[in-house]
Amino acid sequence: MSIILGIESTAHTFGIGIVKNGKILSNIKSSFTTEKGGLIPLEVAKHHRENKERIYFESLEKAGISEEKIDAIAFSQGPGLAPCLLEGIKFAKEISLKLKKPIIPVNHCVAHLEIGQITGARDPVMLYASGANTQVIAYASGKYRVFGETLDIGVGNFIDTFARYAGIGFPGGPAIEKLSLTGKTLIELPYTIKGMDCAFSGILTNLKQKLESGSPRDDSDEPSGEPNYKLSDLAYSMQEVVFAMLVETAERALAHTGKNELLLGGGVACNSRLQEMCKIMCDERGAKFFVPSNDLLTDNGSMIAYLGEILFKNRDFILAKDIDKVDIAPRQRTDDVEIKYK
Ligand SMILES: Nc1ncnc2c1ncn2[C@@H]1O[C@H](COP(=O)(O)OP(=O)(O)OP(=O)(O)O)[C@@H](O)[C@H]1O
Ligand SMILES: [Mg+2]
Repeated sequence: MSIILGIESTAHTFGIGIVKNGKILSNIKSSFTTEKGGLIPLEVAKHHRENKERIYFESLEKAGISEEKIDAIAFSQGPGLAPCLLEGIKFAKEISLKLKKPIIPVNHCVAHLEIGQITGARDPVMLYASGANTQVIAYASGKYRVFGETLDIGVGNFIDTFARYAGIGFPGGPAIEKLSLTGKTLIELPYTIKGMDCAFSGILTNLKQKLESGSPRDDSDEPSGEPNYKLSDLAYSMQEVVFAMLVETAERALAHTGKNELLLGGGVACNSRLQEMCKIMCDERGAKFFVPSNDLLTDNGSMIAYLGEILFKNRDFILAKDIDKVDIAPRQRTDDVEIKYK
């Protein structure tokens, strides 16, 4: 029996979750948001610093345990924004020294993947659609292999930048999804996939040009006299085109690997239309479709604790006396990580 605390701090969210024997006891987080404009890493790190103690104690309280009961502290080692990762590792080391318990460095992307087990997925192809990452991943011979990925920016960052151009703050994804529901006209946009890889910067430029081609109207039918596009139509079209690209790469990975489970992960996976499109594709090819609940899709501490527990049970941890040897890994890739527990 083990109780693992997990700390997430790679980007906008500072979260602490507690897991006991594969069960989530608590999942508390605070996310940095803006009304206008994007993320400034040092400001986000300040947010993490100011909220970490509160989140720690709230998480313990929600789990109904005292801190002495914790067996190990898992934390997101990377990939992520260095100033944000540093807040996480500093706090993990502090707790480790205080409680004299080991720490467990965890790859953030693998954590997004492993939390899918909670939904019943066993050997899935994962479509990992988050802010900074867009990858189709599956397990093969000791590693999670990346079968396809974005050639430029992550799909979430792409959507957030499109939203920012339209005057919407961070995160843009949920607001764009809402707008898309009232879009009616499908506007042609570039469709850019190469095998199982995709690219978004060309579509972003195209959308920017369309936004700038006249002040976008709200949804009133007032003629503006200018050549322009409704923001709702652009949001709707962007989702249809970009999600079709993602689903196509995922389907190709399913066909290539011969696996018959698709798992959706990462914050963009909260999008109902993306979930629906994945479900349709899976139904058509007789594959099973899995998607965790929204609180486990966007960054959270419980997925870090969940993977932390798997590693802990595999005796893959670092004793408190050796913590000086542990550092952050801002650019660590999913396929850098050796999976020793499978
Ligand atoms: N309903 C939604 N539709 C589309 N995108 C969404 C939705 N909800 C959240 N997102 C997007 O999810 C992203 C955040 O996801 P997540 O927390 O997994 O990413 P991240 O930590 O920024 O990236 P990574 O996991 O790659 O480090 C943001 O870009 C946000 O706009
Ligand atoms: Mg993430």
